[in-house]
Amino acid sequence: MDEAELLLGRVLLFDGNPLTEGPEAVRIATETGVLVAEGRIAAVGPVDRLRAAHPAARIRDFGRDLICPGFVDAHAHYPQTRMIASWGKRLIDWLETYTFPVESAFGDPDHARAVAALHLDLTAAHGTTTICTFCTSHPESVEAYFAEARARGQRVVAGKTCMDRNAPAALRDDPRRAYDESKALIARWHGRDRLGYAITPRFSPTSSPGQLEALGALWAEHPDCPMQTHLSEQTDEIAWVAELFPSARDYLDTYEAFGLLGANGIYGHAIHLTARERDRLAEVGAALAHCPTSNTFIGSGLFDMGLARAGMRVGLATDTGGGSSFSMLRTMAAAYEIGQLRGLALHPAELLWLATAGSADALGLGDRIGRIAPGHEADLCVLDLAATPAIAQRAEGAEDAWEEVFPTLMMGDDRAVRQVYVGGRAVSRAPAG
Ligand code: GUN
Ligand code: ZN
Repeated sequence: MDEAELLLGRVLLFDGNPLTEGPEAVRIATETGVLVAEGRIAAVGPVDRLRAAHPAARIRDFGRDLICPGFVDAHAHYPQTRMIASWGKRLIDWLETYTFPVESAFGDPDHARAVAALHLDLTAAHGTTTICTFCTSHPESVEAYFAEARARGQRVVAGKTCMDRNAPAALRDDPRRAYDESKALIARWHGRDRLGYAITPRFSPTSSPGQLEALGALWAEHPDCPMQTHLSEQTDEIAWVAELFPSARDYLDTYEAFGLLGANGIYGHAIHLTARERDRLAEVGAALAHCPTSNTFIGSGLFDMGLARAGMRVGLATDTGGGSSFSMLRTMAAAYEIGQLRGLALHPAELLWLATAGSADALGLGDRIGRIAPGHEADLCVLDLAATPAIAQRAEGAEDAWEEVFPTLMMGDDRAVRQVYVGGRAVSRAPAG
């Protein structure tokens, strides 16, 4: 049996969802301990009481650091790790120029495994403990990510990115292969240890109606699997979808018509939605992944966080390599900035919620990760709130805890990550090398 460990510090606790209930639903608790045992959070409470009740527990005192749930990245593309920050293109051009050539190499299991390891190292160094990622169309790319995550004891969600048109031959499958390969990967990986499989049509332009139908059928057979895709990211893309699917009412309808709209669906971007699309997504209880650094980097548009305030499940996501950072802190800053451009100032409690419980709920994993609560898996990110001179001088003058936290959300990066725990195990702070 693992030795219990008692972590002391300031602790981020959610009593509810701050987007719908207000920032008072989130507390920064002081004099509070988090007892970790056997990979889970065993107890959260006053330090004195926990110390007395668990005298044998090893103590780790983080002082004034903030103990948060590990960050949950609700939408990423691990194969694009090495092409992050590629210059000068918008979505369709960017996919053709940078993305597809890079993804074409992932039929090689060694290459896939090396990039999977790199992505998990980089994201862990930035405090991210769960990622929901697109792989490539090669089953090897999925095998590689699951194998790496499993070796680290990490909870991840991943899926084979299905495409059977408007992509190079090296990346195209067909409806039958998309169905068969996805089904085999579900059988092999879904629910094994901490791994979950997401059925993954890339987006409507790269799937024929036949492929969307096949994946809709697969989802109906595996309703406990999440389904991830992209929706209404750029206006040019939306116009292309209208050309490719002339009888569809709108972009969402290209999924809905084939059984690819549901509560377990995670729709990336969802920026330029019509009223019907918003209503349907809300009606079925679908989740959206907000990808703010990507939306500014590729020039896509400004997501409406009012949807989350109105009760929709919204997760926060890097969307790397369309996104320009592996850091969920940087991603929170971008979400704040986009909120400002839409006249909506997100409170630090809302930003931290989106990066943890919000994303976990969006992935259907909110009962296991994303919160510091008894029974939850012990994935944690401990933040140093004065990690750089620039942040420290601002935090020093803060009049309350939120004012002290906010500079780290706006200016922080991997230097703010003091320690990460995955399944109760401390992982090294920085990637090797
Ligand atoms: N739409 C379809 N594929 C992609 C992708 O890889 N990245 C982004 N940002 N949007 C997409
Ligand atoms: Zn994406």
